[in-house]
Amino acid sequence: MKNIIEISNLSKSFPSPDGEEAVDVFNEVNLSVEQGSSVAIVGPSGSGKSTLLNMIGLLDKPTGGSIEVNQQSLSSLSDQTVAEYRNQTVGFIFQSHHLLPSCTVLENVMVPALAGFGKLEGRQLRNRATELLEEVGLGHRLAHLPSQISGGERQRVAVARALINNPLVLLADEPTGALDQTNSGNLIDLLIQLNDQKGITLLMVTHSADSANKMKQAYHLKDGILNKQR
Ligand SMILES: Nc1ncnc2c1ncn2[C@@H]1O[C@H](COP(=O)(O)OP(=O)(O)O)[C@@H](O)[C@H]1O
Ligand SMILES: [Mg+2]
Repeated sequence: MKNIIEISNLSKSFPSPDGEEAVDVFNEVNLSVEQGSSVAIVGPSGSGKSTLLNMIGLLDKPTGGSIEVNQQSLSSLSDQTVAEYRNQTVGFIFQSHHLLPSCTVLENVMVPALAGFGKLEGRQLRNRATELLEEVGLGHRLAHLPSQISGGERQRVAVARALINNPLVLLADEPTGALDQTNSGNLIDLLIQLNDQKGITLLMVTHSADSANKMKQAYHLKDGILNKQR
């Protein structure tokens, strides 16, 4: 299998808000992820886990080094291809679901397909969104609003939404952080199932050792250093 993510000598520092010393989050981080793998990233709060995921998802830019996804260097993308990359190549799931409160469950899942990069529209799009919601166990909640379903169900909608454009990589930043133990276990099982059955590469930041243990590989980020645990 080829490497779908190739990170070399990545560094990131943030300018200090008060003009004092910059915050160096990490220096010379290297990471290779095989297509179809599932990878956990664990580490203390503030160690840079979200920063790393955000850079892979092009929500933030590195200070130095390089990130290649699907053999394409992210630093070489034009503004238009950045938008297309965010929309088509990666899917993001956050701790908070970020669903649109006034849109139904079905509409929320269709939203990323409306950006104009994909080919699905009309009935085909509606059918695909419905299928994805059935896969995540929410076929009976299509017309509900986010406020009318449970926290665990909202995260499942967020998963379906992240999949609507068939991403190569699913980036999940503490996706179970706001869920109880049962819902958390169910969500992780769902992500593993998607990884196994659809071959979507999964990169997940988590605080839960249980969740990390279910991934094929695990890395630990601390003091700016990313170490492979297994
Ligand atoms: N926009 C920002 N400006 C300045 N510092 C930031 C910014 N975002 C994150 N940081 C700092 O970078 C470090 C890593 O943050 P983060 O990636 O959110 O950590 P984690 O997700 O591991 O908890 C923290 O020390 C944080 O304060
Ligand atoms: Mg974080």
